[in-house]
Amino acid sequence: MEKGVEPHVLMFPFPALGHVNPMLKLAELLSLSGLRITFLNIHSIHQRLILHTNLQSRFSCFPKFRFQTITDGLPPSYTGGLTKLSHLVRSMETVTKPLLRQMLLSGELGPIPTCIILDGFFSFMVDSNAEPRIPVFCFRTVSACSFWAYSSIPELIQEGQLPVKGEEDMDRMIEGVAGMENILRCRDLPSFSRVGDQTEPILRYSVAQTIESSKAHALILNTFEDLEAPILSCIRRRCPNIYAIGPLHAHLKSRHPGEKSPPELESSNGYWEVDRSCLAWLDAQPSKSVVYVSFGSVTVMGDNQFREFWHGLVDSGRRFLWVVRPNMVGGKDGENGVPARLEEGTKERGCMVGWAPQEEVLAHEAIGGFLTHSGWNSTLEGIVAGVPMICWPQFADQLTNSRFVSEVWKIGLDMKDVCDRKTVAKMVNDVMENRRNELMGPVIETAKLAISSVEEGGSSYCDLERMIHDIQLLCR
Ligand code: UDX
Repeated sequence: MEKGVEPHVLMFPFPALGHVNPMLKLAELLSLSGLRITFLNIHSIHQRLILHTNLQSRFSCFPKFRFQTITDGLPPSYTGGLTKLSHLVRSMETVTKPLLRQMLLSGELGPIPTCIILDGFFSFMVDSNAEPRIPVFCFRTVSACSFWAYSSIPELIQEGQLPVKGEEDMDRMIEGVAGMENILRCRDLPSFSRVGDQTEPILRYSVAQTIESSKAHALILNTFEDLEAPILSCIRRRCPNIYAIGPLHAHLKSRHPGEKSPPELESSNGYWEVDRSCLAWLDAQPSKSVVYVSFGSVTVMGDNQFREFWHGLVDSGRRFLWVVRPNMVGGKDGENGVPARLEEGTKERGCMVGWAPQEEVLAHEAIGGFLTHSGWNSTLEGIVAGVPMICWPQFADQLTNSRFVSEVWKIGLDMKDVCDRKTVAKMVNDVMENRRNELMGPVIETAKLAISSVEEGGSSYCDLERMIHDIQLLCR
């Protein structure tokens, strides 16, 4: 690395919304500290974000920030998304990776970066031994607990604890994973380890990337010490240089000048048009009376599951605000699969939108509970807002997150693997009333800890300062 020059950070997120969003928040935090940032995004994702969010206005105040785009190598007609992870990975390895190298060497991405902040879910993208040698800081956008669960899978296979031997084996406790004794059942491991065949490519890929990311110059995690200290100390034994700097959305809020950002600068997180009308609907509801239902940007469900949720919500007798993404039911973009009859029936006590301003919704006085798929960004947003959760995890890290929500942090209930109307109605009433007192103590305490971690002197605040300092030192 050339000494005495101004630091320049290249950031490259994995092309999925749940990964791009936290990377953008980190980019904003680093820009606020005055660092020069080049943010490399996949063309198609960038175009969708430009169309539906305030991305450009959010970054226009940083003269040393710029966006660059690159191809993922897939044809424009490709609609496989994350369901065809292997296609995406193959294409990125053969097309995007050599192109990235060429762009780095030709100066198209600006001066040779001081370091690359690379999403650890595709740490193969940069060879740390190739010239020019640029330190890689791997950013894993998942929880420390799921990262640790992924890292432990090879040993679990070796010891014969995996594969899971069918449905009847799902409640068996996993043994010998430090920091997780008496917590994890087979059911709670990252979903890819459920497949009987332990050579399944998606499992091998996820585990390999997790292990690879712990070998990077540094590991960045969107979590905070008070939430995951025991697990973080286990990870530090393999990867000593960790920056735990989350929750990033709260971190960003606390560092932005001004009390409250104007609506046009509120961070918006989506590929879809945000429907702000639900805020006015919430304004008209009593305090803590509404369950917010949202399953993130990827989860899809069948018609039957959708109907069970709908009946469960209606039968619970509670008010609800439900995000039904355009491609969520049945999985096809543009067809939300919501039968008109169901939508009609919802109007009585519920509100449905295609995409909500989630952070603002969760912070709204009317919200009393959060039915979530336990994606890590949503989980952190629920924690900071101090809203108890009902977890219906679907895949990957979500299965581990939901177990920690219910059994370790005790801030919600885990509805894993079931979604019949009776269970939905019961869990909704448990969170809104029957078990509310028991949950609210830990919920309020955890929210306080999250917020103080990002305030001056807090653990995440100090880790971010240390990271910025370490990046600057690379140039001295
Ligand atoms: C994916 C994975 O599913 C998740 O497990 C992993 O931790 C990150 O990548 P996703 O499924 O989209 O992400 O879930 P999540 O991490 O919760 O992110 C969803 C984001 O979309 C959140 O930041 C949330 O605020 C935002 N969102 C969701 C909206 O802004 N509006 C909505 O209506 C719904």
